[in-house]
Amino acid sequence: MAYPRIARMQNVEEFRAYCEELGLPLQAEDRIETAPDSPLAQPLTAGGKTLGNRFVIHPMEGWDGDDDGKPNELVRRRWRNFAHSGAKCVWGGEAMAITPDSRANPRQLMIRPETEDSLKALHAELLDIHHSYFGSNADLLTGFQLTHSGRFSRPSQSGLEPRILYRHPFLDRKFGIPDDYPVLSDDEVRGIIDLFVRAGGIAERCGADFVDVKHCHGYLGHEFLSAVTREGPFGGSFENRTRFLREVVSGIRATTSRIQIGVRLSAFDFAPYRPDPARSSGSRLGPGIPEDFSGALPYRHAFGGNAQNPVEFDLSDTFRFIELLRELDIRLLNVSAGSPYYNPHIQRPALFPPSDGYQPPEDPLVGCARQIEATAQIKAAFPDMIVIGTGYSYLQEFLPHVAQWVVRSGKADAVGLGRMVLAYPTLPKDTLTRGSLNSKRICRTFSDCTTGPRNGLVSGCYPLDPAYRNLPEAALVRKIKASL
Ligand SMILES: Cc1cc2nc3c(=O)[nH]c(=O)nc-3n(C[C@H](O)[C@H](O)[C@H](O)COP(=O)(O)O)c2cc1C
Ligand code: SF4
Repeated sequence: MAYPRIARMQNVEEFRAYCEELGLPLQAEDRIETAPDSPLAQPLTAGGKTLGNRFVIHPMEGWDGDDDGKPNELVRRRWRNFAHSGAKCVWGGEAMAITPDSRANPRQLMIRPETEDSLKALHAELLDIHHSYFGSNADLLTGFQLTHSGRFSRPSQSGLEPRILYRHPFLDRKFGIPDDYPVLSDDEVRGIIDLFVRAGGIAERCGADFVDVKHCHGYLGHEFLSAVTREGPFGGSFENRTRFLREVVSGIRATTSRIQIGVRLSAFDFAPYRPDPARSSGSRLGPGIPEDFSGALPYRHAFGGNAQNPVEFDLSDTFRFIELLRELDIRLLNVSAGSPYYNPHIQRPALFPPSDGYQPPEDPLVGCARQIEATAQIKAAFPDMIVIGTGYSYLQEFLPHVAQWVVRSGKADAVGLGRMVLAYPTLPKDTLTRGSLNSKRICRTFSDCTTGPRNGLVSGCYPLDPAYRNLPEAALVRKIKASL
């Protein structure tokens, strides 16, 4: 099914009318406001600092570090773009694996003693660039995202080397995990906790204000939350499924002096999706349909999903988890959803699928609205949490209009940018200083930045960023896309 293109909408009235037609609880303000009046220009007290505005840069990895897990020029360029974007929080920078075998790709950054100096230099450059553009770093908050890729570990080009916490009825099959494949032992989990704690110390020495103990997108931290069928101290009960978080947090607190802790959370998850075989042909992807979960109800593998209908969210467990964050004195929460590997339409709404995805099963605006609504429910229930929203890139021209409404009405404290920052790094600055956007740089959700890495290439905005458009990889990405 073809959905109306946002780029072709003439004005915000047309956008609003279309949202109304879809029955979406989305609003968009009449015009983009600039600083100092814009709600997006208001300061925010978070992580011990007063941030200069309500824009956040989400973690965005590029599958482009050196083989030894150190940043190189492509990584540094991306971080320089984060630095002068105008956003006042760089949440995570990008996923940094705690060990070589826990990388999601062979070129993922690693956070371990061997890479400490290079990460310190990367962070220092981020601060220098921010300072040179804005004259001070007092209003900027930075974090490092700590990750173990778990089920989606792929440390070499030869394919997935999953590290799983439990047998998953659909994902094991989808990703070819044989019946006799081992689950991580409790001792292995304890070793992983120690390495997260070690990474927290490294982040502190590198100068980051906080670490994100990643709990999203199907990676290990997220998988703990749905490990209801795992036996032993790290599975089953809510208390056991959150032991990983509690032990990492207490370990980091015991071994560091000032670093704050935040969590990026897939606040809800759905059953895995796949291209509808009846509507796919050759390599042409059909629209996404959920796996047939009818024989697997109640569905217990989607944290924050409705167990009777796991294509809807139910935030009861999510609220319990956030209550735990508060008890642990964690206030920084970046709300995401689902996983890019098995239900990307709820995670990063897009008009064009990546090569391992499917055509959108719904208007991508529905995906944006779903994340905004879940985030608003979280903020309403936990007003003292600093809540950052996700999934805004598909809003395109109307991103600032919707973001203003979200922040003004207290549905989130700040708005995060993912793909948009690859395509158009200075969107925050342009919004707040000019009150208008450069339409030639707006992310159109072509998904090349996902298709590239899924095919072993570096990630970047091949269509819109001249530095990537001219790489030899760009031709390969075009060829792969043409075959879809
Ligand atoms: C190329 C690419 C790299 C990403 N890297 C990370 C990452 O390192 N850590 C993370 O938590 N999310 C990562 N994400 C997810 C984004 O942070 C964000 O949640 C997602 O793109 C939806 O936001 P958007 O609509 O603004 O793009 C990545 C997404 C893309 C497309
Ligand atoms: S490749 Fe560029 S335009 Fe396409 S989704 Fe990624 S950032 Fe957006």
